[in-house]
Amino acid sequence: MTYDLNAPVAVLDSGLGGLTVLTELVRLMPEENYIYYGDAAQAPYGEKTTEQVRALTLDRAKLLMEDCQSKALVVACNTATSAAIQQLRRLYPDRSVIGMEPALKPAALSGYHPKILVLATPVTLRESKFRRLLDSYTGQAEIICLPCPGLVEMIESGVLEGPELDALLSDLLQGAITPPPDGVVLGCTHYPLIEKSIRAAIGSPVEIFQGGPGTARETRRRLEEQGLRRMIGPGQITFQTSSTDPEWIRRAQHLFQEALEDEQDDTLK
Ligand code: DGL
Repeated sequence: MTYDLNAPVAVLDSGLGGLTVLTELVRLMPEENYIYYGDAAQAPYGEKTTEQVRALTLDRAKLLMEDCQSKALVVACNTATSAAIQQLRRLYPDRSVIGMEPALKPAALSGYHPKILVLATPVTLRESKFRRLLDSYTGQAEIICLPCPGLVEMIESGVLEGPELDALLSDLLQGAITPPPDGVVLGCTHYPLIEKSIRAAIGSPVEIFQGGPGTARETRRRLEEQGLRRMIGPGQITFQTSSTDPEWIRRAQHLFQEALEDEQDDTLK
């Protein structure tokens, strides 16, 4: 089957986190049409069993790939990727299915034996996909893996700064930041939304690594390889969610706009 250039690129996450990836995609390929799906009724994925995450991911992907006939699927969620990427690739062999993993490689190679802190969900850190990645860099860096239960829930509830978030971060990070790390891997797409608070909780200058930009570049590469790049734009962005909160889509659109504007400001600097 051939796909229309105008078919959307689907972006899937458990909630708001994938917006950090959508921002990178739109920045790189503003001509494309996108459909963003946040499974907010089921978030957080990262504290469920692997089987539950897999079932949810396959179900939401079916909607995006079969009902919406998307030309590619970006799994903008480290947790869903670690639980279901192989099954998704088997189910949709003729379409690009792009997953995410914590950006450990650039972090581990960033200096001589750096101390690296990997923040991610419990599911991502215990799955074999990440364990294999970890094995490849173990000798090259001191790597501390820190599961962050509670963080995604807080972000989904709209808390992106303030004392409640600072208290949770300080609880989670204590014991992992003395001596301070050289680099921090944000191994969950929600975490870049609270990057400022994470930096403040660490309290010393640190390099932050995240997977969004690389995922966007890989998506562009795959679309080009398949001759599926839409070159005339701008494209449209549609937001969908499983949340019953009537405000969810407005909140997602607002966060996305803000992130896009921040990014444009950064490029102008
Ligand atoms: N944003 C997702 C990730 O990158 C996970 C969030 C969740 O726990 O639902 O892992």
